[in-house]
Amino acid sequence: MTLDVVMTARSFDEYRAMFGLTDSDLSRRILDCPAGASGFTCEATDRGSDVTACDVAYFAYDPEGLASVALSETDRGHAYVLGHADHYAWTFFAGPDEHRLARHTAAQQFSADIRRHPGRYVPGRLPSLPFSDASFDLVLSSHLLFSYADTLDAAFHLDTIVELMRVTSHELRIFPLVPVGSSEPYPRLAELLDELRNRNIHCRTANVDYEFQRGATQMLVCHHGPSS
Ligand SMILES: C[S@@+](CC[C@H](N)C(=O)[O-])C[C@H]1O[C@@H](n2cnc3c(N)ncnc32)[C@H](O)[C@@H]1O
Repeated sequence: MTLDVVMTARSFDEYRAMFGLTDSDLSRRILDCPAGASGFTCEATDRGSDVTACDVAYFAYDPEGLASVALSETDRGHAYVLGHADHYAWTFFAGPDEHRLARHTAAQQFSADIRRHPGRYVPGRLPSLPFSDASFDLVLSSHLLFSYADTLDAAFHLDTIVELMRVTSHELRIFPLVPVGSSEPYPRLAELLDELRNRNIHCRTANVDYEFQRGATQMLVCHHGPSS
């Protein structure tokens, strides 16, 4: 079964774990794209980080509308998890109730933050972003690429990674590498990494200390190669 792209609300703690973020990482200029209704921008900014969130959904609604959609989308995502509980490892979250509470709390952080600081939330439709080259040092991209490989084709993956790399001076991290409904990595990963290498973008997989979707325990870390 496939799932339409849902606007999920992962928490700061999930982001820190799934991207292996250190305090030094959090001191960089960060772009979260697609950010959905994640609480990361709110909490990281409260802790002193410089974070911008970008998502196509920010075109569709004003902050009030997004605040309400964030909660209904969180319920939709939770319903999917409940219906496929055996696809998930219940370690980061002790069980479904804890998952629902964490995602609701993150959605509420997002809702409060976008009302107070709408400028932090920038509409953008991948594979094209409204930012100048190297506007950020670290770009984080979770649960779009690879996750929705049944609906997003290989060209979208390539173009999107090239665009996310254009706006970072240093690094891009992508999590997870496993499509929704699977526990195996994206089948065309090797081909994609070859295409990226041809564009002077060098990527490696790295283990992270986070597993929710079973088998999704690695992120992709991408850097610019030396200029010729
Ligand atoms: C599953 S959510 C992930 C949100 C967040 N990173 C998280 O982990 O909770 C996927 C998001 O991708 C956004 N999205 C889908 N297609 C997009 C596109 N072409 N450009 C930008 N955002 C897109 C959706 O609006 C949705 O919010």
